[in-house]
Amino acid sequence: MVPILPPALKAAVQKLVMGTGGLGARASQMSGHFRKGGNSNATLDFNAYLVARLPATYASVSACIKELLLRKPHFAPQTLVDAGSGPGTGGWAAAEAFPNLSGLTFIDINREFLSLAITLAKQSDHIALRQAMAQTADFGQSLSTTTADLVIAAYALAELPLGKTRVATKNLWAASKDILMIIEPGTPQGYARIIEARSALMADGAHIVAPCTHRNACPLSPPDWCHFSVRLPRNREHMHAKKATVPFEDEKFSYLIASRSHTQTARARILAPPVATKGETRFKLCSENGLSHRKVAARDKAEHKRIRKRGWGDLF
Ligand SMILES: C[S@@+](CC[C@H](N)C(=O)[O-])C[C@H]1O[C@@H](n2cnc3c(N)ncnc32)[C@H](O)[C@@H]1O
Repeated sequence: MVPILPPALKAAVQKLVMGTGGLGARASQMSGHFRKGGNSNATLDFNAYLVARLPATYASVSACIKELLLRKPHFAPQTLVDAGSGPGTGGWAAAEAFPNLSGLTFIDINREFLSLAITLAKQSDHIALRQAMAQTADFGQSLSTTTADLVIAAYALAELPLGKTRVATKNLWAASKDILMIIEPGTPQGYARIIEARSALMADGAHIVAPCTHRNACPLSPPDWCHFSVRLPRNREHMHAKKATVPFEDEKFSYLIASRSHTQTARARILAPPVATKGETRFKLCSENGLSHRKVAARDKAEHKRIRKRGWGDLF
């Protein structure tokens, strides 16, 4: 399944950005702003964000929810906190995956982004989105007393100094009744925040659901870092906004899913695109034995059939 924006969100975005001129230049200015470590302050170009970033952040949140459901197929949250919600990306992705969701709170430090999240959410058919609440808060300081079965913080820790990751993670964890999902850009800096968050969560007794398959120290060291990729199609506006030449985009992300309840540990996860040659397929794996490389010979028909469709990010 390719994670594309739900039709109601796509239509709501189109209505908002209709007639916005110079989106291509505005989108590349905004990307430059984020690349330089800028944050979503009040001067952010919201229309450029909706066209150029929302499809990609939606795709990576959806990919992480898919992984969560592979690991915890019976998880059916009633309530969600989308922390650092921006336009409500986490809320829309969760509403798509969890039809029984009935309570949704968007939390953001930026009032303009919050009001945009509510405007968009009102266009949904999903009751949780239509009735979503908005709260202004800084999760780097503290969160209100709102708690939820699922807390999503997507591309939001990135906007705090790295040294604030632990306290922000603890605040997010305190708001979670079961699952906390943190997603960051798939860069060395994003990974550094994920590793810091992982250590804070394990110190608080959290069970790590994904991507780690163990509780040992991460076996990766620079210049390597743990990240994954999701491919999403680009529509015409998206291609125009990104000055793109191909009709798809690969969004790289790092992530962590933690739970208050025990989760069956998996054996190994694939950390890079498998390399297939005529005689074999090679996998880079992470397991409790550390980092390893495994070759599956094409002549080993049964094993080859079993792993043939496994890709980057999948369990082996
Ligand atoms: C890059 S946007 C990501 C938005 C959305 N989660 C997504 O994935 O598309 C980061 C969001 O985090 C919010 N944010 C940054 N620091 C925050 C903080 N300390 N407390 C609450 N929200 C924060 C920003 O205002 C912004 O809306």
